[in-house]
Amino acid sequence: MPSVFIKTYGCQMNERDSEAVAAQLVAKGYSLAKTESAADVILLNTCSVRDLAEQKAMNKMKNLVGTAKKDRPNQILGYMGCMAQSRGKELIEKLPDVDLVIGTQKFHRTADYLDEILSGKREKIVDVAAEEKSEATIREHLLNGSAKTSVSAFVSIMQGCNQYCTFCIVPYTRGEERSRTIPDIVNECRELVARGVREITLLGQIVTSFGKRDLPALDGKSAFVQLLDAVHEIEGLERIRFTSPHPKGYGDDLAEAYARLPKLCESAHIPLQSGSDRLLKLMHRGYTRERFLTIIKKLRAAKPGIGITTDIIVGFPGETEEDFEQTLSLCREVEFDNAYIFKYSPRRDTPAADMPDQVPQEIREERNHRLLDLINEIAARKYDDFIGRQVQILVEGPSKKNAARYTGRTRCNRIVLFDGSSRHQGQLMDVKIERTGSFTLYGDPAVVNL
Ligand code: SAH
Ligand code: F3S
Repeated sequence: MPSVFIKTYGCQMNERDSEAVAAQLVAKGYSLAKTESAADVILLNTCSVRDLAEQKAMNKMKNLVGTAKKDRPNQILGYMGCMAQSRGKELIEKLPDVDLVIGTQKFHRTADYLDEILSGKREKIVDVAAEEKSEATIREHLLNGSAKTSVSAFVSIMQGCNQYCTFCIVPYTRGEERSRTIPDIVNECRELVARGVREITLLGQIVTSFGKRDLPALDGKSAFVQLLDAVHEIEGLERIRFTSPHPKGYGDDLAEAYARLPKLCESAHIPLQSGSDRLLKLMHRGYTRERFLTIIKKLRAAKPGIGITTDIIVGFPGETEEDFEQTLSLCREVEFDNAYIFKYSPRRDTPAADMPDQVPQEIREERNHRLLDLINEIAARKYDDFIGRQVQILVEGPSKKNAARYTGRTRCNRIVLFDGSSRHQGQLMDVKIERTGSFTLYGDPAVVNL
């Protein structure tokens, strides 16, 4: 059977989609190629969220087409995912040597389409149509691959987003919000736990809107909190995380869930985007600075020590120095454990792309640097606070850079390196933090696990 190489761009949702496609192909007899040059099929799973991500994938494909023509004339090349969805057949018109374009609701058809192309039945396939119930088709896992994935797994709970933030292309590439059912998700989680998984991260573009249309609130609990409750009951599962939520989804029921559910890890990635009320409104985010601060307070009251990270956009159209300073001041006030900062990138068909007062590139760069300096200064201070403390980690496996070191994560989602061995793999253990590196903690298990 042919071999496949999948290269993934973008977010954890994309990583998860690639894993599911790989698992589906393996189940049909395909093998996974170690390198591009050894592969009969190369698939790029793409991201559209910023222009740079699209450029990267397109340049990569151009190079692949070049080498394939020269050295591997029979190699099949395809695009999958968000850029495949938003650009469709335009991608083949641009590069006629591309064979396959698979949209975000069609990942599960990959094996069939490859069969058709490989057997010569069809030459080119573009499928970016919507498909009912496609949200329930991302469920296969590759647990035997890297050791790390067998300890911790990602489960996709919903697809799409209806928030329509004015800068964001996701509602167009991923479609309307569609949620899986709670029993379906719980079954998948149970199977994973039976295969040795101890930590599950529930995934979606806006997980706090999970099941909103299908499941009414019950005893004051939103559908998402009902799902957390159901997953929490799975015996043998030790840790639950989720990403990405939306601030508007942090009702009291979710804050209480942190206090109530011991397996729910005290870490939250809560996208802020801006600290200016004026910009939050232009972005169509649906909350104010004040409301965001209230959520953070509520979470810290429910779980002191909760790790809080965020996403921020600098240079959104119309952002003035004053607006930007509001973002800086909010970051000083909240003291995020870390933040991903993005320079605004205009996206096709989004309202913000046509807004007046687009911010010049050099100002976007300058604000990016200033915010990054602040975020790093706060993050370093927060890392140093860990020195001397004892923390629980879930050991994922050997570190990529140095195989004598093992890596694990704290409940608040920080990476800890320590001198370990394969017997530690998959274990929950306590370590004492000895020192910090850049975005890493170094721990010693000897002191506390005699
Ligand atoms: N809810 C989704 C959002 C996907 S986009 C999730 O977190 O998975 C991830 C981040 O990219 C957003 O939070 C935002 O900060 C950033 N982003 C989205 N569109 C952008 C754009 N047009 N320009 C710059 N950054 C953007
Ligand atoms: Fe995008 Fe806003 Fe949804 S950032 S994914 S439209 S919550």
